[in-house]
Parts: sequence; structure tokens; C-alpha cells
Amino acid sequence: MRRIYLDHNASTPLAPEVAAVMRRAMEDGFGNPSSPHWAGAPAREMVEQGRQQVAGLLGCAPEEVVFTSGGSESNNFALKGAFFARAGKAAHIVTTRIEHPAILAPCRFLEELGARVTYLPVDSAGRIDPDDLRNAIAADTILVSVMHANNEVGTIQPIADCAAIAREHGVLFHTDAAQSVGKIPTLVGGLGVDLLSIAGHKVYAPKGIGALYVRKGATLEPLIHGAAHEGGRRAGTESAMLTAALGAACDLAADLSGMERVGALRDRFWTALKSRFGDRVVLNGDPEMRLPNTLNVSFVGRVGADILAQLDGVAASTGSACHAGRIELSPVLEAMGVAPEVGMGAIRFSLGRTTTQEEIDAVAARLSGILLQSA
Ligand SMILES: Cc1ncc(COP(=O)(O)O)c(C=O)c1O
Repeated sequence: MRRIYLDHNASTPLAPEVAAVMRRAMEDGFGNPSSPHWAGAPAREMVEQGRQQVAGLLGCAPEEVVFTSGGSESNNFALKGAFFARAGKAAHIVTTRIEHPAILAPCRFLEELGARVTYLPVDSAGRIDPDDLRNAIAADTILVSVMHANNEVGTIQPIADCAAIAREHGVLFHTDAAQSVGKIPTLVGGLGVDLLSIAGHKVYAPKGIGALYVRKGATLEPLIHGAAHEGGRRAGTESAMLTAALGAACDLAADLSGMERVGALRDRFWTALKSRFGDRVVLNGDPEMRLPNTLNVSFVGRVGADILAQLDGVAASTGSACHAGRIELSPVLEAMGVAPEVGMGAIRFSLGRTTTQEEIDAVAARLSGILLQSA
């Protein structure tokens, strides 16, 4: 059984350069970054260099970067921070039906606390219509949160257009960029956003670290109260090892040139599947406005999990789950209006920096073996 990793949207391996930075930080950055003495200084330098590197990738000022524990915390901070900063006032939030649970679950929680939330629909490619956003914004809207790129199908949203609409109405705009960072440009100036979430383990850094970009002047109530870390926005002693790791990963992620190769491999994979399976394979997501590493395909009339079980050694994800003998489509595929007999056969292959042509060709050949044999 040969191991092939095609699940980079779930998590990326640690980049060797990042691991080297972490080793150094573990040895030299043990002090408390807030301590004024000799042991604190190197740790503080590592934290602040990491912050500068994250800021470099996002095109913002270092003071606008708040370190968090990951994508979920960044999203929770954006949503709850905006809500609690305006506590006591009527609050309306606009988001989409295809967000990650790290957006949808806090929205549901805030609904319990009295917020009104509008969930925008998407078309069959998974894109929202900016006009729907324009129509949804009301006098009490405090925040719009639209993901930059979808984790399951890779569809990229028209963030700059949506952010401009929010700005016209004086409403804060957040985007969850956990999947887009390092794959497509994520400069906050170009996107026009006020808040942007990133997650370390999607960008070749470890789990346990992420960041939220908070535009200067945007006010959020902290989720974690305590001492004045992170400019008073998130209490807790920073880890030099994790922040340096995220910084090193962001340095690497700023160079998008490798994504062309990844995109070409992804397209080669799709062409191979299409030529083998014809109409029995369907692309999920936008054919053009899509992350270059993501290929979500449905094998019509098949069950994705069954295929993956036979693709022994190949790590990928399905878009449906089987509960008590019933196939349940993922909420993303459901929102896109994918028919159950198509959606149940969905598999997400997500490529990464180290994916090779040989791996892609091997998986395509094995899929042929599995599917044509049992056809
Ligand atoms: C789009 C998106 N947002 C947020 C998250 C959550 O990030 P984390 O696992 O770092 O909490 C993920 C992870 O799957 C994601 O894909």
C-alpha cells in the first residue's frame, strides 16, 4: 500500500523551513516574551518577527495582526468580538450558507443571544451574488462575514465587491481566508476587508496557531480577558515557537509561483478523470473561480466513502456522510443544489506543494481500476 497525501485542505505537513525555525525557537525562545530581561528578549524578537512576516503576507501593519490558536478562534473572535463590542444594541450579521462550521456555529450561538443572522444562498458553482448581500444589509447590520475560498469545493467568492458594498454601508467586513492564504493573493488592501482569519496548519505551519487581521480602528471585544498581550486584544503569553512558525510559513506562502505547477497538476488530474469516466464524473465548484489545488469531483451513482475505502493509502475527503444507511450531503453541496445521487459520490482531492505528477497519475489509474472493474 503506497501512501499518497491529497488532503491538504484538511491540513498541510510542516514545511522543513518551519520545523527548523521551531527547533531554534524551542531552544532560544523559552523566556516570557513580556519579560524585560535577557531571557525574554529573544522570545519577544521571535514573536515580533513572526508578526511582521504575517503582516508581510497580508500587506498590513504588524500591529494589525493578532495571534490566535487557529482558524476557529480567529473566526470566533471576529464574530463574537464584533457582537460583544456592540452589546445591548440590535445586531444583524450577514454570512453565507457555505461557511465553515467555525463561522456557522458561532452565528447560531449569537442568534441564541439575540442576534439576527442572514445566510446568503449560493449558485450551483458555490458563488454568492453581491446583489443579495446589498439587499440583505439593514440599518442594524454590524458585520458581514464571507469566506474567501471554500474548503470543500474551492470556490472563490467576489470578496472585493462584497467588501466594497459593506464599506458603502459602514459595516465591518470579515473574510475567512484559512483556505486561500498561500494559494491565491490575500492582500487585505486588494480585498478591502476589515478582518481576515488565517490558520497555521493550512499553510505548512503547525496546529495551535493562527491569526486575525484587525484593521486599525476596527473595535472587537476580546474573547480572552487577562493581561495586555496582543495589544489588549487577546490575553495569554505568546508562544515564540508557534508565532515564529506561523511567520516562517507566511514568508514561504508569500511566493505563489509554485501554485502554477499545482494548478497544472490539478487540471491534469481532472482531464484524466474526464477522459476515463466521461459523464460519470462531475466537477463540483466553480470551473474558473476556484483554488488551484482543489478538485472536488462526484462519481455519479457511487458513494464517495466506498471509493476512498478502496483507494487504500490515498488520503482525501468525501463530501457526504452515511448516517443509519442514509446518505447525507455536506451542507455545502446541499446549498449548491447538488442532486443526492451526484453529491453522494463526491470526493475532495486537495493537492499541495509536494504533490507530484506521478502521484496524480497513480491515483487516476487506481480509480480506473476500482470504478471500471465494478461498472
Ligand atoms: C475555511 C476554514 N475556516 C476555518 C477552519 C478552522 O481552522 P482551525 O482548524 O485552524 O481551527 C478551517 C479548517 O478546516 C477551514 O477550512
